[in-house]
Amino acid sequence: MKFMEMTPTDMVHVEQIDNQHIRLADDLNSIYDSVMACDKKKTFQLLNEFIEHLEEHFATEEKMMKEHRFPGYISHKLEHDRFYNQILKTAEKYGKDKEAFGSEQLKRIKVWFFNHIEINDKKCGEYFVERGVS
Ligand SMILES: [Fe+2]
Ligand SMILES: [Fe+2]
Repeated sequence: MKFMEMTPTDMVHVEQIDNQHIRLADDLNSIYDSVMACDKKKTFQLLNEFIEHLEEHFATEEKMMKEHRFPGYISHKLEHDRFYNQILKTAEKYGKDKEAFGSEQLKRIKVWFFNHIEINDKKCGEYFVERGVS
């Protein structure tokens, strides 16, 4: 079994958002494999790629929320900002050997990821679909 498994129930039914979520889950699977192989250099590189994709993804959702005047924009963006800053710090410290990065951290990211889809992204996905975005 893969570390991250995206199922049809994890879809928000907006193609661009779903595709980005799938890419982020794929990134985390690669990071997991690299952690298991104890390849620190590769893990750090993949972690930074994940962060880049995350930034792009959050920007996509935030742009759509603003364009369609989604009422929960501020709290949703705050969730993004909080998580993004946290992971950025973690990666920086890991790069400087000041903090470990392994399965514990990955598990926490996984929990956040699926919770965020369930609680935040599905709500705005539904709102976008109602407005004809697909
Ligand atoms: Fe989101
Ligand atoms: Fe998302």
